[in-house]
Amino acid sequence: MNDKLKSIHAEFEQSIVSVSSNEDLEAVRIRFLGRKEGLVTNMFKDLGKLSVKEKPVYGQKINDLKNLITEKIAQKVKEIEQKSIESLKSKGADAFDLSLPAFKNEIGAMHPLSIVTDEICTLFVEMGFMVVEGPEIETEYYNFEVLNIPLEHPSRESFDTFYLHKKSLLRSHTSPVQARYMEKNKPPIQIIVPGKVYRPDATDATHSFMFHQIEGLLVDEGITLAHLKGVLSVFAKKLFGVKTKTRFRPHFFPFTEPSAEMDVSCIICSGKGCRVCGGNGWLEILGSGMVHPKVLKAVNIDSSKYSGFAFGMGVERIAMLKYGIDDIRLFFENDMRFIKQFS
Ligand code: PHE
Repeated sequence: MNDKLKSIHAEFEQSIVSVSSNEDLEAVRIRFLGRKEGLVTNMFKDLGKLSVKEKPVYGQKINDLKNLITEKIAQKVKEIEQKSIESLKSKGADAFDLSLPAFKNEIGAMHPLSIVTDEICTLFVEMGFMVVEGPEIETEYYNFEVLNIPLEHPSRESFDTFYLHKKSLLRSHTSPVQARYMEKNKPPIQIIVPGKVYRPDATDATHSFMFHQIEGLLVDEGITLAHLKGVLSVFAKKLFGVKTKTRFRPHFFPFTEPSAEMDVSCIICSGKGCRVCGGNGWLEILGSGMVHPKVLKAVNIDSSKYSGFAFGMGVERIAMLKYGIDDIRLFFENDMRFIKQFS
C-alpha cells in the first residue's frame, strides 16, 4: 500500500509539471481525483481490504495525498491565469488594465412612452386596425395641402412648423401618413399611425418641441359619427377602465367635418372634480371627426360612396395622466431612475 501511494504521488508530481493549460490540468485532476476511476479515489476503495488496525493509518495517508494533490492543482490554476495575463501583456496588450472593475450588466426597461404606445396600438389592433408608419420629414403637400389646411391657416406659418427647406418640414402631426396610405390603398381602410411629431413650442412642464402621436383612420361604405363614437368610447373604457365616461365637444379641424374633441371622465376623481381635471371632472384626450370630403377627393376616394372617421391623440399626455407624471421633460432626460419605475 505504501509503495502504491508513493508511486501515485511520484506520477502526479511528474504530470503536474508539464501541465500548461486548463484542459491538461482537468485531465490530471480526473486521472488522480476523478470520482469513478481516479487513482487516489480507488485507493480509498481498497481500504476495505485492510485490517481494523491498518485502516486508520492508511486512511490518513491517502487523505494527505488527496489534500496535497488538491492544493497543487489549485496552485496550478493560479499559475496558468498569471501566465495568460503575462502573455497578453507581452503581446503589447498592456493597454488592458485588468484591475479595472468590469462593466455592470445593467438590465434595461421599456420606456413609459413605448409601453403606452404599445398598449394603445394593441387595443386598436384588437378592434381590427392595422399599424402603419411613415416619414418624419414631410412635404408641405402631405402635412397641409392634402389635408385641406389652406395656406392662410395659422399652422402653416413658419413659427408653428419646423421648416427644413422651402418645401420640406418636420411633420407636425401623423395625419400625412394617413393621406399617403389613402392614396395607395382602396377602402376599406382601418389604420392606426403612431410616431414622432414636431412643433416649435417653448419647452415647459407640458410642452415639448418633439412629442408622440397616435392617429387613426377608418374609411368604408356607410361609416357615420355613430361608428366614431362607438369605437372611441370602447377605446377609452379599455384604456382607463370600464366605468370611464366619454363626451364629445364640437371643435374645428380643417380635415374633418364635423369635428369633435373627446373628453373622458377624470381618471383621478372619477368626475367629481380635482386638481388634475381642474375641478370640472373631465379630461380632454383626443381630437376626432368625420374625414372631410375634400380630403377624400384629394386622395381619389369617391366621397359619394365612402365616408370615414379619423382621430388623433398625444401619447405623452395620456402617459402623464395614466402614471400621474407632472412634467413632460422627464420622458426625455434618460434618467434610469425614472424609466425603471414603469417596467
Ligand atoms: N391631426 C390632429 C392634430 O395633430 C389630430 C386629429 C386627427 C384631429 C384626426 C382630428 C382627426 O392635432
